Amino acid sequence: MANIIAAGAHGAHLAPIEPVNLAGIERLLDLAFGADRQRRTAYRLREGMDFSAEASCVAFDEHGALVGSLQSWPASLVDDDGTATPLWLVGPIAVSPERRGEGIARAMLRRALTAIDDTGIPAVLIGDPEYYGPFGFTAEATGEWRLPRPFERHRLLARLDDKRTLPAPGKLGPATLRLPRGGQIVLGGWSCR
Ligand SMILES: CC(C)(COP(=O)(O)OP(=O)(O)OC[C@H]1O[C@@H](n2cnc3c(N)ncnc32)[C@H](O)[C@@H]1OP(=O)(O)O)[C@@H](O)C(=O)NCCC(=O)NCCS
Repeated sequence: MANIIAAGAHGAHLAPIEPVNLAGIERLLDLAFGADRQRRTAYRLREGMDFSAEASCVAFDEHGALVGSLQSWPASLVDDDGTATPLWLVGPIAVSPERRGEGIARAMLRRALTAIDDTGIPAVLIGDPEYYGPFGFTAEATGEWRLPRPFERHRLLARLDDKRTLPAPGKLGPATLRLPRGGQIVLGGWSCR
């Protein structure tokens, strides 16, 4: 995966997330989802986790301003026997209001999903099926999944290739093995820091 790639129609480009970008990402997410965004169910699903550097990215405009962000997190689905299946939880994804409609989110998603496909671990997210459907996300496999907080079932989406199935029922949550903050661990295909 190249480090810097073009995105969008007007000179935006994608790059890996660096520590110096984190404050800007938080501001962008506040703008996109509201200051109370941490109350959302998706935050409970990534609690205690660090995002994966490989499956996340930011977008900068032609002046170097941060205009987009996508983060992916290690999660797991625990079936009723207690067996955990690793998953990637994709999101949040956000683009600055003045740069929407240029294809920046699509470019970030394509990049993240390429990295995720390399791990062989399926991706899940909570989002609008109209937007994520073209990337292969559907609610077909998630009908009996449980989450720690209320959610809209038709927006709980998984992306599976033809050969894959996922447990149903199961409980979705953060990865069952906590990753040390600032450290690095490789776990069942996840490689996170
Ligand atoms: C959703 C978001 C990331 C899209 O970013 P973007 O860079 O404008 O997206 P793209 O340019 O790649 O795609 C734009 C297309 O997606 C469509 N689209 C955007 N949000 C959509 C949604 N929620 N449902 C369906 N379609 C959507 C647009 O209408 C547009 O369609 P068009 O190409 O036919 O004109 C951006 O609107 C945003 O930050 N929204 C606020 C945060 C948010 O809702 N994040 C997603 C949470 S699920």
